[in-house]
Amino acid sequence: MQLKINNETHQVDAPDDMPLLWVLRDLLGKKGTKFGCGMGQCGACTVHINGQAMRSCITPVAVAQNAEITTIEGVDEKGNHPIQIAWRDNNVPQCGYCQSGQIMSALNLLQNNTTPSDEDINSAMSGNICRCGTYPRIKQAIKDAAK
Ligand code: FES
Repeated sequence: MQLKINNETHQVDAPDDMPLLWVLRDLLGKKGTKFGCGMGQCGACTVHINGQAMRSCITPVAVAQNAEITTIEGVDEKGNHPIQIAWRDNNVPQCGYCQSGQIMSALNLLQNNTTPSDEDINSAMSGNICRCGTYPRIKQAIKDAAK
């Protein structure tokens, strides 16, 4: 099947029900999207499909066929996107494992709401778990990126 990822077209040989995360990581080598729980509960595997934040571990690849898929690698490979700058300025990551999913969810929030309140941020980010507890820095980075 054909997938469009970060504005590039890829041909993949995968069963329809293979999770998109498996295709990204194992078939296409895009390792920025992380495997956390594999059950749609932690947010580490978040990507955008047609502009919506989705859990790639529970999304069958067939769902993403002919869609616009954006992974963390597609945000800005040079790291100059405002959200990447805000993440760096706030030293958000600790271990870093969940952060690509955090950024993809934050980006989705800011694409839909350019002036999010604390409540908006809490609501949009509640599905992204961070074992290191970087939540206060994530919130500040989102506010900085929104400026
Ligand atoms: Fe997909 Fe946890 S790995 S939600």
